[in-house]
Amino acid sequence: MVYIKDLSKHVGEEVTLKGWLYNKRSSGKIKFLILRDGTGYLQCVAFKGNLPEEKFELADTFSQETSFEVTGKVKEEKRAVGGYELDVTDLDLISAAENYPITPKEHGVEFLIDHRHLWIRSQRQVAILKIRHRIVKAIRDFFDDRGFTLFDPPILTPNACEGTSTLFETEYFDLGKAYLTQSGQLYAEAGAMALGKVYTFGPTFRAEKSKTRRHLTEFWMVEPEAAFFDLNDDMDLAEEFLEYIVQTVLKDNQEDLKILERDTSTLEKVKRPFPRISYDEAVAILKENGVDFEWGNDFGGGDETIISSKFDRPVMVHRYPSEIKAFYMKRDPDNPKVALAVDVLAPEGYGEIIGGSQREDNLDLLLQRIKEHELPQEFFEWYLDLRRYGSVPHAGFGLGLERTVSWICGLEHLREAIPFPRMIYRNTP
Ligand code: 4AD
Ligand code: MG
Repeated sequence: MVYIKDLSKHVGEEVTLKGWLYNKRSSGKIKFLILRDGTGYLQCVAFKGNLPEEKFELADTFSQETSFEVTGKVKEEKRAVGGYELDVTDLDLISAAENYPITPKEHGVEFLIDHRHLWIRSQRQVAILKIRHRIVKAIRDFFDDRGFTLFDPPILTPNACEGTSTLFETEYFDLGKAYLTQSGQLYAEAGAMALGKVYTFGPTFRAEKSKTRRHLTEFWMVEPEAAFFDLNDDMDLAEEFLEYIVQTVLKDNQEDLKILERDTSTLEKVKRPFPRISYDEAVAILKENGVDFEWGNDFGGGDETIISSKFDRPVMVHRYPSEIKAFYMKRDPDNPKVALAVDVLAPEGYGEIIGGSQREDNLDLLLQRIKEHELPQEFFEWYLDLRRYGSVPHAGFGLGLERTVSWICGLEHLREAIPFPRMIYRNTP
């Protein structure tokens, strides 16, 4: 059996392929069957007389998504989808598909998402999933090649990492409550003290009550963490990382981006250095644009869009008011009102894709923060140990995979960036 993506090696040969019917049309003595096999699309041309009569007629019974096996000779054909064509000599049904619910006509998004298990077969969704796959590999290659060790944190945790308002909780035997992790960061910090540079990469959970196009309740996050890094090192790493991901997809996924009709000119510009502005400067931009914004507030989606629209590549906003940031962030020694934090905002209105910071490495200050945030100190004793035994400056960040996929693919909503999205109003299929 041969796959469509490998057809260039089989020109002139007779081969057998297996897959599903994507589309068909016929005119008298000739039938065109578009086969998809997950690796590509192939026009199979059945000429009456080139295959047994009953097989020629069998083709008429095939409907959209019928699975079948087809044999024929591979021809180069510039005008055909994928650049090759199959001269059919034999055809067999594998399994029928009666009344496939998703037809080429327009369906509403709710209908499509109810049929997500089938919707992922469509050309556009396949292109997105392939880009997601390439991004995941680029992420791993990037860190693996730079001396970071993959470090897997637990998913069931005894405490919150990113605030208590978005925790999913579950009963945990006799030990009381356990929570689905919001971030692997605290564990990554322990990992960095053991291995120097680590990254976590896995699913994270937030009981987000907001119904926005940028929020999922289950999403994937990659979180590098490095000992002896300060905020500047962290920003250097973040911009090199984003440039690498975007340029890799541009190099390897041109066809997928074409299917998505993505304007790649904006992606081409994602090259270092990225602009770096302070929160104060970002606030000034908002004010210049007539936004009535008070220092100390967090940016909303609309604010982020205004700020990022001033730049042609991702912008790094640093030094946010510590009040609105997580307990573990180190305060700026030059101005304790702000935290050594950075958010990276993607262009074209895609908003925050990275959140990171230098961590508080002083035991007393960290204890104070835990008290201020009214966090249960006993669950953080292990984390405090990292400051008791050879504490060092360290920093890291988290990149949301779906937000990155969504931005690079030019999607309207995060729900298309993951195989089976989980949102406040949906946990099926
Ligand atoms: O900014 P966040 O909350 O940062 C952290 O979790 C830190 N512990 C990361 C670190 O320093 N190691 O989340 C990081 C990123 C966001 O920038 C965003 O891309 C993504 O995670 N994210 C979400 N993506 C989809 N749905 C949600 N509900 C998300 N919440 C955050
Ligand atoms: Mg954030």
